Amino acid sequence: MYTQSFSVPDNAGQKNVAAVPSTENPELMAAFDARIDADGRIEPQDWMPDAYRKTLVRQISQHAHSEIVGMLPEGNWISRAPSLKRKAILIAKVQDEGGHGLYLYSAAETLGTSRDQMLEGLHSGKAKYSSIFNYPTLNWADVGVIGWLVDGAAIMNQIPLCRCSYGPYSRAMVRVCKEESFHQRQGYEALLVMMQGTEAQRAMVQDAVNRLWWKCLAMFGPPDADSPNSAQGMRWGIKRISNDELRQKFVDATVPQAKVLGVTLPDPDLKWNEARQHYDYGQIDWQEFWNTVEGNGPCNKERLATRVKAHNDGQWVRDAALAYTRKQQQRAQKEAA
Ligand code: 3HC
Repeated sequence: MYTQSFSVPDNAGQKNVAAVPSTENPELMAAFDARIDADGRIEPQDWMPDAYRKTLVRQISQHAHSEIVGMLPEGNWISRAPSLKRKAILIAKVQDEGGHGLYLYSAAETLGTSRDQMLEGLHSGKAKYSSIFNYPTLNWADVGVIGWLVDGAAIMNQIPLCRCSYGPYSRAMVRVCKEESFHQRQGYEALLVMMQGTEAQRAMVQDAVNRLWWKCLAMFGPPDADSPNSAQGMRWGIKRISNDELRQKFVDATVPQAKVLGVTLPDPDLKWNEARQHYDYGQIDWQEFWNTVEGNGPCNKERLATRVKAHNDGQWVRDAALAYTRKQQQRAQKEAA
């Protein structure tokens, strides 16, 4: 449903962005730029400028932590899912998100940043993760809306990352996107079932859409004009489509889905613009977005505390795994001696 991003050409002019002034070896830099311009892939063993490495680690960190923290709002509903089928689906989905985080931590390792360093960034509150996960999940319909809209927005953003210039990140994204596609569909299907249910169920779905719609639009990041990292990220082929363009594509894809579902998207300014061949939409509250990104959203503190507790509670598992590995190594050494 969202694979149209594959066939969209890269932003016109993205390669026209001037290269950043660099103190790196000019020959290596020229070879790197030539590979990027030819749409080649950069692999871990290849030379890359420091700034490219840093940008990747920054983006992959934000992305990996979003997958890990994203397990929490839905995890809250596993014990309260309304049927065995929904519980099984939700457990599988939350587990998938954990797996996505792990692929991405591995991609960061290929850039020289260890998982411990990444986790330290998350647990100390220094690293960012997606704003959307700092809002509460108040009723069962929120779980469906997370699948439909949150995962839908994530896929829209992540399909172009399958063509990212850094090999390990782009390859990880292929599997992530396939799984996210299942997540999106299960969410939409759960909502379709609720919309065919009672008046109270339909009201729950509408309430969840009302609370989460604007937060989903903000997931794509600040407007292009206020996005400090976009120009360089696009110049390097890390990002392929801009924040605003992806947001627009998401709105255009979602409006017809909302009609089929029978819900109203909470935006009086949302209407088809014949001249632009896109839907116009209203103003996003960027002050609220930045407030949440800076750690002051409704659930930031709770999410971080839950995540740190889960990590600390799992210490015995890591200790046991390490003790077992040491034992195996000692046994192998004894046998070899
Ligand atoms: N929430 C939190 N922080 C955000 C944000 C959001 N929704 N959108 C942007 N930001 C942060 C950026 O990380 C950046 O901070 P930094 O400079 O300290 O790293 C700052 O705001 C400025 O934004 P830019 O537009 O300049 O940053 P980018 O060029 O990196 O673009 C992005 C932002 C589009 C989110 C990009 O980083 C990206 O595509 N990331 C990979 C995808 C991703 O992170 N997805 C998370 C979505 S949820 C998810 O994946 C879980 C799934 O299971 C639902």
